[in-house]
Amino acid sequence: MRRPMVAGNWKMHGSEAANTALLTELDLRLRVEWPIDVAVFPPFVYLADIARRLRDSTIEVGAQNVCAEAGGAFTGEVAAAMLKDVGCALVIVGHSERRRWYHEDDALVARKFAAALGAGLTPVLCIGETLEEREADKTEAVVARQLDAVLATNGTAPFAHAIVAYEPVWAIGTGRNASPAQAQAVHAFVRRRIAEQNANIAGQTRILYGGSVKAANAAELFAMPDIDGGLVGGASLGAEEFNEICAAAAVRH
Ligand code: 13P
Repeated sequence: MRRPMVAGNWKMHGSEAANTALLTELDLRLRVEWPIDVAVFPPFVYLADIARRLRDSTIEVGAQNVCAEAGGAFTGEVAAAMLKDVGCALVIVGHSERRRWYHEDDALVARKFAAALGAGLTPVLCIGETLEEREADKTEAVVARQLDAVLATNGTAPFAHAIVAYEPVWAIGTGRNASPAQAQAVHAFVRRRIAEQNANIAGQTRILYGGSVKAANAAELFAMPDIDGGLVGGASLGAEEFNEICAAAAVRH
């Protein structure tokens, strides 16, 4: 069965002091026996230090973005091999905030996905529709397009371990989560889409839900058959809340 995952995307939040307090508190609360994977995604500048500190813990570390190029004259960018070098295991690609504010298109996201794989990182591919697209009944068309761009260039095999995060843009940071039924419908669609290429691999792909996940709604979301955990933004910044979300994922197992 797919092992549940709870991933905390800190976005552009944190400081030396706040990170230490959060991780110390989280470490005290998380139960190592929980059959789930837990990961945190701090801003770049904190990654090396946090990865070192969490080396012996069960919490994995990932980056929020990566350069599609392997290295060279790309001022301000960070290569996948560098993330691996400092102890990252995962990297988010195609987050809607990157697509929206930094104009990342499907082709670039597919190249970032490939760069992550090439360096031995697990990509967390974010897909999801805007409110306008949902209201125009384009949700499936949008997530299919976003997914197909990656499948076309990377194939299906990586999805045995690569992670998909369905994050409807209208649910991110709004306090308005997709209902469990709405999320489940899209997760099932995504799994079917991968299954059209390879049913065995589709059965292994972990599909996380993201968008206003909190302790109060995590259990009902994670109870859905195709929701394998959560990619959590705001609620990952408080140890107590994040821990409760992890507890809800452990129950799913
Ligand atoms: P919120 O949980 O703050 O809505 O953010 C979700 C998200 O974008 C995680 O990547």
